[in-house]
Amino acid sequence: MTDNKTATLKVHGETYELPVHSPTAGPDVIDIRKLYGQAGVFTYDPGFTSTASCDSTITYIDGEKGELLHRGYPIDQLAEKSHFLEVCYLLLYGELPAAKDLEKFETTITRHTMLHEQMQYFYRGFRRDAHPMAIMVGVVGAMSAFYHDSTDISDPHQREVASHRLIAKMPTIAAWAFKYHIGQPFVYPRNDLDYASNFLRMCFAVPAEDYEVNPILSRAMDRILTLHADHEQNASTSTVRLASSSGANPFACIAAGVACLWGPAHGGANQACLEMLEEIGTVDRIPEYIARAKDKSDPFRLMGFGHRVYKNFDPRAKVMKQSADEVLDLLGVEDNPKLQVAKELEREALEDPYFAEKKLFPNVDFYSGIILEAMGFPTSMFTPIFALSRTVGWVSQWKEMIADPQNKIGRPRQLYLGETMRDYVDIENR
Ligand code: CMC
Repeated sequence: MTDNKTATLKVHGETYELPVHSPTAGPDVIDIRKLYGQAGVFTYDPGFTSTASCDSTITYIDGEKGELLHRGYPIDQLAEKSHFLEVCYLLLYGELPAAKDLEKFETTITRHTMLHEQMQYFYRGFRRDAHPMAIMVGVVGAMSAFYHDSTDISDPHQREVASHRLIAKMPTIAAWAFKYHIGQPFVYPRNDLDYASNFLRMCFAVPAEDYEVNPILSRAMDRILTLHADHEQNASTSTVRLASSSGANPFACIAAGVACLWGPAHGGANQACLEMLEEIGTVDRIPEYIARAKDKSDPFRLMGFGHRVYKNFDPRAKVMKQSADEVLDLLGVEDNPKLQVAKELEREALEDPYFAEKKLFPNVDFYSGIILEAMGFPTSMFTPIFALSRTVGWVSQWKEMIADPQNKIGRPRQLYLGETMRDYVDIENR
């Protein structure tokens, strides 16, 4: 950060000089930390549309260009040339690993994939028809009750162990939420399989017969995980940071992230998008839905379209679209009606002045549901898979925050518009 620039602010006739920090990429940032102390005013920014809540070295997004970099590396290069566990290492430690470091990391993650056996009974407390995300919020939070030896956030070793446990166990937690939901027996992890293949096997194998993981599907799953791994200070990541700012244990903080991700404006959009494509059904009905999305009196929005940061193509959506074509092709699924509707909807929306003016483009969730459905996942599993991939992002951001000496409890201010002080009125006089 360079502090030699300033911004001038005039409030109530007084002038204040505020430091301006220049990032390595992106717009300058006005530092208002001392503003209240000096000028006695707050700033107002619901939804944090103009506020940087932290400094970070992990992920950078240029929304205008449609660029996403992890530790400087573009997401399309990572999706093509790297794989999920290598991207996990990159996010956690800042550099691409040397071969021996990657091998050690993969071994560590693989050795932590099993869940404490007692956790099975915890699952059994849920109703069978519970949404897998509801189960995940509970089970991830419950990890604090099972792994006491990695909850002391002041100990760097415990933080490291908690990070590894979360990344390693999340596929087992998500797969078991699925198995419980559909009434099948839990399938234990297998350490001879790679991360994505192990997850697919835990979801689709049954004890009654052998299950061969299709390497093409495993590669597609790995790519989905890579594309969702981190996305700087989005709602769920900010939730993790805010929860952690009070000193809460890592499992409680990540459970808070899972809860936030569930919403349809965030991680729940992939489920909502597939349901929307299903509801539209045929390409001739697209104009009706585009008209509804544009109608301000109708709450309907095109799911999988628009983004707080991207005002251009979401770079992840481009890779996802290509992946959807490849997976359906390789599975021999010809003329998938949802893919046809998605492609035509994208084309018609991009030609529509409403979407062009508001810079609304397809986001990562527009095509991911089509791939997941083709793999055999029900829509209710889409958001749990997002949660499993985003865990490494949450954990990396959490680790960065805890190690930051400037870390203090998050405590936003407010613009109070309620009643001023008044006397209590006895019930008979109201
Ligand atoms: N369909 C129709 N209109 C839209 C859409 C949409 N999908 N998205 C935004 N708009 C309009 C919105 O009505 C508003 O119009 P106006 O200025 O006339 O009031 C304008 O575009 C700006 O929208 P906003 O809600 O102020 O933008 P935001 O940055 O607060 O919201 C968003 C971003 C992602 C929540 C929103 O675009 C949306 O609801 N999209 C659909 C849900 C979705 O696909 N979410 C996944 C996001 S990517 C994955 C993730 O991060 O989890």
